[in-house]
Amino acid sequence: MEKYVINGGNTLHGEVEISGAKNAAVAIIPAAVLAQDVCVIENVPNISDVSILFQILNDLGAKVRYLNKNTVEIDTRNITEPVVPYESARHLRASYYFLGAFLGRFGEAHVSPPGGCNFGVRPIDQHIKGFEALGATVTTDYGFINATCDEMFGSHIYLDVVSVGATVNIMLAAVRAKGLTILENAAKEPHIVDLANFLNAMGAQISGAGTDVIKVRGVKALHGGCYSIIPDQIEAGTYMAAVAATGGSVLIRNIIPKHMDCITAKLVEMGIAIEEQGDSIRVTRQHDIQRTNIKTMPYPGFPTDMQPQMAAVLCLANGGTSIINEGIWENRFRYVDEFKRMGAAIQVDGKIAVIEGVGHLTGAPLRACDLRAGAAMVIAGLAASGTTEISCIHFIERGYENLVGKLRGVGADIQIVNQSDDEAAQDVG
Ligand code: EPZ
Repeated sequence: MEKYVINGGNTLHGEVEISGAKNAAVAIIPAAVLAQDVCVIENVPNISDVSILFQILNDLGAKVRYLNKNTVEIDTRNITEPVVPYESARHLRASYYFLGAFLGRFGEAHVSPPGGCNFGVRPIDQHIKGFEALGATVTTDYGFINATCDEMFGSHIYLDVVSVGATVNIMLAAVRAKGLTILENAAKEPHIVDLANFLNAMGAQISGAGTDVIKVRGVKALHGGCYSIIPDQIEAGTYMAAVAATGGSVLIRNIIPKHMDCITAKLVEMGIAIEEQGDSIRVTRQHDIQRTNIKTMPYPGFPTDMQPQMAAVLCLANGGTSIINEGIWENRFRYVDEFKRMGAAIQVDGKIAVIEGVGHLTGAPLRACDLRAGAAMVIAGLAASGTTEISCIHFIERGYENLVGKLRGVGADIQIVNQSDDEAAQDVG
């Protein structure tokens, strides 16, 4: 097992190139199943969630071939068994997108319940509601979610909650259903729009993605195509937060400015200078960090996937009290006890965290507990005085391509080292 070792205190300067969006890639890759053809997907991030999805496709009989570091050719013509077993599905949340993709292609799907970050209860009732509205029968037994349907028909579906996953899965199941599906109260995240654009490039007829009403007119078949994934809004936001925490000035390259608006606005409130330059954004911190309040909401609100990273920055405010209201997840504050060991002053009560701006943090041994919490611990370590060691980095490497290389490229003192057997054993426990 490996860990990150960070010697904090360096300010960050230079440029960072943003990779393809994880949450778009993990929806688009399963979607390729819908075309009994060959798809070429560009700007695919090199992260473990993507590698696992490619392994699942290979196990299903698809052919996955890297044309270069970030371009992949996927041939799904030979897939016959619409099954994803526990051993594969448990590694990530997005494995459940094969439910919608298999339903759309085969009229049946047998997928073991997904894994993913632990924020408390993560129900999938809205996914099932959508599948059943399209005519599928959904059961759960023998460790599988089973969805079957002789013929799917378009339906008017109203989501009870705004759900990225349910929006993705219902779109995937609906693209080949007979007739029109109207999905109300749909998620509007950039990765929803990216998936719709990919499916339309394959011959689907989807309109309204990016609004809360998505219309899918079923088609008989989809064909292959070539598509490039959008840049990762959350990866970019993570590097913006890192500069805010450490000080310095960094050009974040290959972003879509509109996607960054909610994060930019919040950092400006905190006294960080942001300059948009076309498909880049320069982040500069010259003054003390100001306290602020954050409420996480579905897009275009402030993204919950940036919540832990911003908490790390708010700990470093010089005085003042900030309040974070986690509007999406039951418990996304599992990182707080780790931050407290660095000198942070945070009180959590349910979905509310009250953060005192203590102005500085000290390095400590930390254990990542999920993807974005792990990224937040890296940010805290970069800003802290002294050394921070972060274990369980497999969580972080699920969603950040070459994190250490990109940070070292802007002056961070961070490296990956092997853990001793004892340290590794403790992490497993
Ligand atoms: C996606 O998770 C992202 N994951 C998460 O990002 C992100 O935090 C989340 O959307 C919110 O933006 C991927 O895209 C792979 P939801 P998802 O369905 O789809 C409730 C990261 O760091 N809900 O939008 O699982 C649910 O409990 C990851 O990249 C139901 O009640 O989230 C939550 O309160 C972590 N019933 C809310 O909706 C359902 O059937 C939003 O969840 C589905 C969801």
